Amino acid sequence: MSSNKISTKRRAEILDGNAVAAEIKAEVKDAVARLRESHNVQPGLAVVRVGEDAASAVYVRSKIRVSQELGLKSEHLALPAETSIEELLDVIEQLNSRADVDGILVQLPLPSAMDERKVLEKIDPAKDVDGFHPINVGRLVLNQQTLVPCTPAGIIELLKRSRVPMSGAIACVVGRSNIVGRPVAQLLLQHDATVTVCHSRTRDLASVTSQADILIVATGRAALIKSEHIKPGATVIDVGMNKITDEREARELFGDDAEKRINSIRTRGYTLVGDVHLRDALNAAGKFTPVPGGVGPLTVAMLMSNTLQAALMRRGIGNVSSEQ
Ligand code: GUN
Repeated sequence: MSSNKISTKRRAEILDGNAVAAEIKAEVKDAVARLRESHNVQPGLAVVRVGEDAASAVYVRSKIRVSQELGLKSEHLALPAETSIEELLDVIEQLNSRADVDGILVQLPLPSAMDERKVLEKIDPAKDVDGFHPINVGRLVLNQQTLVPCTPAGIIELLKRSRVPMSGAIACVVGRSNIVGRPVAQLLLQHDATVTVCHSRTRDLASVTSQADILIVATGRAALIKSEHIKPGATVIDVGMNKITDEREARELFGDDAEKRINSIRTRGYTLVGDVHLRDALNAAGKFTPVPGGVGPLTVAMLMSNTLQAALMRRGIGNVSSEQ
């Protein structure tokens, strides 16, 4: 009964972040090999983590593993939670001065007592593979060549490689974080989209989002975006990553398809959902990134690309990639 009901509805094309990330990683791996052959240079990435945040530990391990798979030199500095900001700034200063380190990433969030701004501003902008330093943010806004934050850069790559036209498109970004919302709005503008940024104070959100050909959502609010927010046929990019622990909520969100989700809650304690209501997006959107499997894998792929880019820029080497 339920499968009948679903098959009669229009289903959005799923944009496969894993496939695009694999493509980007293969290109970076090739370029890294060519750089070693042509210039005897192996790009180096240092990832710094402070404290015991479990999710951060998983993300960092994945960044280190992928960097090694692609032939980058990488190191993981895991500092104890009681590290002082002075000690952390010293560690960054040492990494700034090392010739074999091209990229420095300080995993966020930092322990709450630490001034995140001071830490991010300490990173040499030329090694700032997150693109969070104010100098790099300024360059992004001014449309100058720079290191671009990884998730926004990944979203643009996904749109390009999925042949979603950006020039002249109406794009709406929901969420104004420094990590996703603000930079992705800048990038869409660079690609000649007409861009609106919505946030928690936006009045009548659906009246704005439902105009958008490209809708990008990064709010941290599970299933905020429903049918009425989506222009039929739009491309919807869901950057949300929310843990649902309540079985009743999972049943409400996933209806007939909730069984796998409920199993996940029973075995792992949670199921991951995006900021976009999955069934609504599948029925209303033209193209859609699911959670998990959408933009998540692209963030790590673009970090690798940024590390390569930093190594090239720091040494004044032109592009060794066969792409572009
Ligand atoms: N924590 C969550 N996302 C990110 C990211 O893109 N970079 C860093 N450094 N920390 C994060």
